[in-house]
Amino acid sequence: MEGTKDSEDRNSPFIAIRWPALLDSGLLFPINYLGVEMTEFTYHNGELCCEEVLLAEIAQHAGTPCFVYSKRALLNAYFALDKAFAKIDHLICYSIKSNANLAVLNLLASQGAGMDIVSQGELYRALKAGVPPERIVYSGVGKSGAEIRYCLESGILSFNVESIPELAAINRMAAALGKTAPISLRVNPDVESNTHEYTSTGKKESKFGIPYDEALQAYTKAAEFENLRLIGIDMHIGSQVTQIEPFVTAFAKIADLFIQLRNEGFELEFFDIGGGLGIRYSEETPPTAAEFAEAVLPILKPLDCKIILEPGRFISGNAGILLTRVIHLKQTGVKNFAVVDAGMNDLIRPSLYNAYHQVSLVTESDSPKVKVDIVGPICETGDWLAKDRLLPKLEEGALLCVHSAGAYSFTMSSNYNGRPRGAEVLVDGDSYRIVRKAETLEDLIRGEEI
Ligand code: LLP
Repeated sequence: MEGTKDSEDRNSPFIAIRWPALLDSGLLFPINYLGVEMTEFTYHNGELCCEEVLLAEIAQHAGTPCFVYSKRALLNAYFALDKAFAKIDHLICYSIKSNANLAVLNLLASQGAGMDIVSQGELYRALKAGVPPERIVYSGVGKSGAEIRYCLESGILSFNVESIPELAAINRMAAALGKTAPISLRVNPDVESNTHEYTSTGKKESKFGIPYDEALQAYTKAAEFENLRLIGIDMHIGSQVTQIEPFVTAFAKIADLFIQLRNEGFELEFFDIGGGLGIRYSEETPPTAAEFAEAVLPILKPLDCKIILEPGRFISGNAGILLTRVIHLKQTGVKNFAVVDAGMNDLIRPSLYNAYHQVSLVTESDSPKVKVDIVGPICETGDWLAKDRLLPKLEEGALLCVHSAGAYSFTMSSNYNGRPRGAEVLVDGDSYRIVRKAETLEDLIRGEEI
């Protein structure tokens, strides 16, 4: 169905608008704001667009707040990584937790991607999106019996196991089902990844993985379980890692172990190097996919095994934005506040990690710049999206774009303060689709009883 901007139905699933003149005009410029370059989100004649669609058009149709994803940006990031690792046998298992929308999963799976899951909910999503189970790896420090059963019945590629008790639990379930579970052990390399303390996972103090020094012993123990088949080794040092060195150090340590294990007779088929490759939110300078590959391939290639990658943010982070509208402007003696219709329930990263997300006006303005805090309507002082930003003087009703909101944004959202979540929209060239409807008030009480 082709819709128009006048459509009454904000949630109609298929909408297409046409604006071919935009592309033909050659007037698409990348934003280069604080050094952040996001080529799929560009101004045309003073109006911010995603690919060739006006964000203002989407806001009018889908309502605000809403998340907008660029198909082109998702694919560009995926292909960049895929190309960088083309010289070796590899499988990109996109980390669903970063952006789990079915349309996003389906898009990546259609290009050959596998998935990294951490729950039965994510497995359910992956299967619904058409991801072949033999391309799914299951990570996570606490897998329940029901989750283990679902994965065994579905026939996933591998369980990334984090402890001996977990091995025992998987073995029990596999025996009960008359199956053999494919296993790789997640080893903690004890390497500092220089990222936020909440998302650093590769130090020995963290809850993740089997301690490096105990790994050989753990493999020996694992081999004793009758219903397990040891097929790989796995690691993940953290998320939003913006330097190459921690990866190089960690991969080298696990590669040593891999060789040692092979020498001991373990027939390992793959090394899962985890995810974590960072993106640029403001002034970070993370390695490109090509730089990353160039640094790590000399370590990985000699192992002569399949390499599994689990990128999440690298693929989805800068492929999405959050659209929000200014509800009120408020001045106190010491601050200017723009109260917007998106809050910490929609995007919790600033509140939780003190994370920086660039904010820009959807319609460019020449008004003099003023320092402003962009805050949500939620009853907590911690409910803010951006602090002390110099932006052209805002007006009520102005549309704002919160950048780099493709990863860990919608997936971490909630209904806190009784707030239905907005739509998710996928842009493809000069058309767009609502790929998740905005929630309704009824959605908020679904399943409840008085
Ligand atoms: N593999 C494993 C085992 C993981 O735990 C994670 C992320 C990934 C892969 C994907 O990492 P990525 O490539 O996206 O960095 N909520 C936080 C990030 C938490 C990441 C958790 N694990 C944030 O908003 O920054």
